[in-house]
Amino acid sequence: MKFQVPRGTRDILPGEVERWHWLEERTRVAMSLYGYREVRTPLFEATDLFVRSVGESTDIVRKELYTFQDRKGRSLTLRPEGTAPLVRAYLENPDLRTESPTRLYYMGPMFRYERPQAGRYRQFWQIGAELLGPAGPEADAEMIDLFRAVMFDVGLADVTVLVNSLGDAVCRPRYREAIRAYFKKHAEKLCGDCKERLETNPLRILDCKVPSCAPVIAGAPSVLDSLCPECAEHFEAVKRALTGLEIPYEVAPRLVRGLDYYTRTVFEIHAAGLGAQNAVGGGGRYDQLVKDFGGPDTPAIGFSIGMERLLLLVGDQAPPPAKPDVCVIALEPGSAVEAQALARALRGQVDDPEHRQALHVVVDVMGRSANAQMKWASKVGARWAVFVPMAAEGYGVRDMTAGKDEARQRSVEELRRWLIGRRGLVESPR
Ligand code: HAM
Repeated sequence: MKFQVPRGTRDILPGEVERWHWLEERTRVAMSLYGYREVRTPLFEATDLFVRSVGESTDIVRKELYTFQDRKGRSLTLRPEGTAPLVRAYLENPDLRTESPTRLYYMGPMFRYERPQAGRYRQFWQIGAELLGPAGPEADAEMIDLFRAVMFDVGLADVTVLVNSLGDAVCRPRYREAIRAYFKKHAEKLCGDCKERLETNPLRILDCKVPSCAPVIAGAPSVLDSLCPECAEHFEAVKRALTGLEIPYEVAPRLVRGLDYYTRTVFEIHAAGLGAQNAVGGGGRYDQLVKDFGGPDTPAIGFSIGMERLLLLVGDQAPPPAKPDVCVIALEPGSAVEAQALARALRGQVDDPEHRQALHVVVDVMGRSANAQMKWASKVGARWAVFVPMAAEGYGVRDMTAGKDEARQRSVEELRRWLIGRRGLVESPR
């Protein structure tokens, strides 16, 4: 083998890809029911876009970016997340700002140079939603509600919502100083990275996963004690809204998240089965980001969900891959093209939106004998075999599951109607 898939990436193969389709479809429905519309941004952006939003002192920017120069020497970066690109698109396209609020979602691969392990990849997929415009707590509640709706729609009801507030430009600096003073006192117990963070961004220490830092972090002052009255009231209002929507939550004063653009509310959703460190997804408010990018004062909030993690949780609930309805068997070596033509005619209309009148039909292209074609038809799980050329009494049809011959069908149209009718009796249409 000359080549292997790059470390931390994977192929999604038939058998698994159907589960992805299912997840994507379900998520799209949830997003659209809440009024969110899809945006597809490029996979790479100017490096500065991420440095200025995710933050220079975050692990993502310091250690995890896939950055390269193009042929004109521009520094570009494979997107490590979807919020900054979406805000860029929001500002660049006035059509997205014609009415407020703006509800958008995205779905696609992100790239981070992380140490691969279960549920952590270097190319991974996210589903994300962003709500731009509203400052009030209803927006925070809508986001958490939508996140849960996506989880529920794929059969995951056992989720834990963690919420916290990181304050704003008024109270956060105060907290940062309080926490810096605290960690300075315990500096000798911190890991090398955290010692650095003391200077660059002490809040990041709360997010450190090195076990030796845990006891020091556990004793750190709580951000909730430093909130200014406005931020404290916002947080209270968010919690009231969650209660009003009957969404159980836990306050997690140590939750800071790995990105610097957050203000006020941050949240994560954890689910049993992923381990303590692994959130299915998370998000929060980023009231300053649009302005930081040169736009008007526009509060915003969003979240994203890791699709690989969601699929790990979904397990076998996703439907199994579809099997062909029909395999057309060429009884003679000269009838291969006739078999292909019949297969095409049986498949039916692609403009039939629900595929009620369409059949999944496969046909041999390996020049196999009729016997070998029959073996292959049962191997691929075809429900019926149909034989060409047509005999004088009509097309022969064999029920592959029951192993019995059916009544002959006199024309292609009759055959189609019969197959679709019979399929309707055995299963619901795809
Ligand atoms: P994040 O917490 O960095 O937030 O990523 C969100 C989710 O993406 C994680 O909870 C996890 O499920 C998944 N994820 C992250 N890194 C990896 C990885 N290496 N492998 C597999 N899955 C991963 C954000 O990205 C923010 N943009 C969320 C947001 C949207 N905030 C506001 N709007």
